Amino acid sequence: MASRAAAAVLVLAALICAAHSSAAAEGLSRGFHAASCPELEDIAGTLVAETFRRDVGVAPALIRILFHDCFPQGCDASVLLTGNNTELNAVPNQTLRPVALDLIERIRAAVHRACGPTVSCADITVLATRDALVQAGGPHFDVAFGRRDALAPASQDLVDTLPAPSFDVPTLISSFGNRSLDVADLVALSGAPRMCPRAPPTRPSTCARRTCSTTSTTSTSS
Ligand SMILES: *[C@@H]1O[C@H](CO)[C@@H](O)[C@H](O)[C@H]1NC(C)=O
Ligand SMILES: *[C@@H]1O[C@H](CO)[C@@H](O)[C@H](O)[C@H]1NC(C)=O
Ligand SMILES: *[C@@H]1O[C@H](CO)[C@@H](O)[C@H](O)[C@H]1NC(C)=O
Repeated sequence: MASRAAAAVLVLAALICAAHSSAAAEGLSRGFHAASCPELEDIAGTLVAETFRRDVGVAPALIRILFHDCFPQGCDASVLLTGNNTELNAVPNQTLRPVALDLIERIRAAVHRACGPTVSCADITVLATRDALVQAGGPHFDVAFGRRDALAPASQDLVDTLPAPSFDVPTLISSFGNRSLDVADLVALSGAPRMCPRAPPTRPSTCARRTCSTTSTTSTSS
C-alpha cells in the first residue's frame, strides 16, 4: 500500500493548477531550493521522523492534507490558510488532523529560521508527505520543488470538487480522472488515509490497535 500510495502522491504533487497541470508542472525542479536552502530536506526529514515515532498516524494524515490541498486547484497550500471562510473551515476539513497541520507548521518555522522565507508551504507539505511515506515503509522518491503558495483559499466550487463520501464508483473514477488520477491511484489514495504504517518497534501503534488487527503479523486470532 505504501508504495502504491507513493506513486499516487507523485501524481498529486504534480498538480500545480488543476486547469493546466502538465504545462505548469514544468516549472518545478529538484534543485529549486539547493542554493537558497540546502538544509531543507534535513530539517523536514528530522522533524517528520521524530513526529512519526510519536504518532504513526501522521503519515496517512499528511496524505489526506496533501490530497485536500492539491485536488481542488493544485498544490498551493491553500488548505493551510487560517481565518474566516477558509478551506480549513469547510466541511471536508474534519478529517485533517492537527498533528499533521502542526508538523507542517513546525517544519515551516524551522526552515524559515534557517533559510528565511524562501520555501513555500506547498513545497513543505509535499516534502513532509514524501518523508512520512518513507517512514511508513514506502519507497524514497525525489520530489520537484518550486510551488507557489496561494494567497487566498480555493473557492467553495473548487473545494466541492473533492470526491464526496456519497460518490458511487463511476463518479469517483470520473472525479479522479479529471485530475489525471487513474483507478489504481483512486484505490491507493482512498486506502492511504486508513493505512497503518509500520510502527517503530518500541512504540505500540494506536492506529494498528484500532483498524489493523487482522493484518498485524504478531496478532493471534481473537
Ligand atoms: C471572522 O468572523 C467573525 C464573526 O463573524 C468576525 O468577528 C471577525 O472579525 C472575522 N475575522 C476576520 C479576520 O475577518
Ligand atoms: C475544521 O472546521 C471546524 C468547523 O469550522 C473547526 O471547528 C475545526 O477546528 C477545523 N479543523 C481544523 C483542523 O482546523
Ligand atoms: C469531470 O469533468 C467533466 C468535464 O468538465 C464534468 O462534466 C464532470 O462532472 C466531472 N466529474 C466529476 C465527478 O466531477
